Amino acid sequence: MTRAQSSLLAVRDVSVSFGGITALNGISFDMREGQILGLIGPNGAGKTTLFNCLSRLYQPSAGDILLEGKSILTRRPHRIAEVGIGRTFQNVALFPTLSVFDNVRIGAHVRSKGDIISDALRLPWVRRARGGA
Ligand SMILES: Nc1ncnc2c1ncn2[C@@H]1O[C@H](COP(=O)(O)OP(=O)(O)OP(=O)(O)O)[C@@H](O)[C@H]1O
Ligand SMILES: [Mg+2]
Repeated sequence: MTRAQSSLLAVRDVSVSFGGITALNGISFDMREGQILGLIGPNGAGKTTLFNCLSRLYQPSAGDILLEGKSILTRRPHRIAEVGIGRTFQNVALFPTLSVFDNVRIGAHVRSKGDIISDALRLPWVRRARGGA
């Protein structure tokens, strides 16, 4: 088994440039299942840029990011949550018109089984899965 295959997450030689600024220059690391990994560095070191690559907001100019051995770089940003990658932001961004319950529930939406018809009709199984009020 190769190193990339045994990793849950493998970041391989990832580089990101903004014009003349090289924010990330050949970053590589592995993360195993169950591992908690911290990323530290001074202001401007490129931490947020790396998280933006992991959540697909930025496309690296070089390198690859593999989740369970499969590249996530071909995946569109709105399809990243369904493979299990989520993130929070430094500036908390809530939906101001929604309740606390609904704001929390949105985080689980990707795992819900509803569809537009069942949700619109509020079928009993949709209400049960929703929980709460
Ligand atoms: N969208 C962008 N356009 C141009 N330059 C950017 C952009 N995003 C980040 N940079 C630059 O890339 C470098 C890395 O920035 P980044 O925000 O990733 O650092 P950071 O480690 O998250 O810093 P901090 O600790 O301040 O949050 C900095 O020089 C920054 O100015
Ligand atoms: Mg940052």
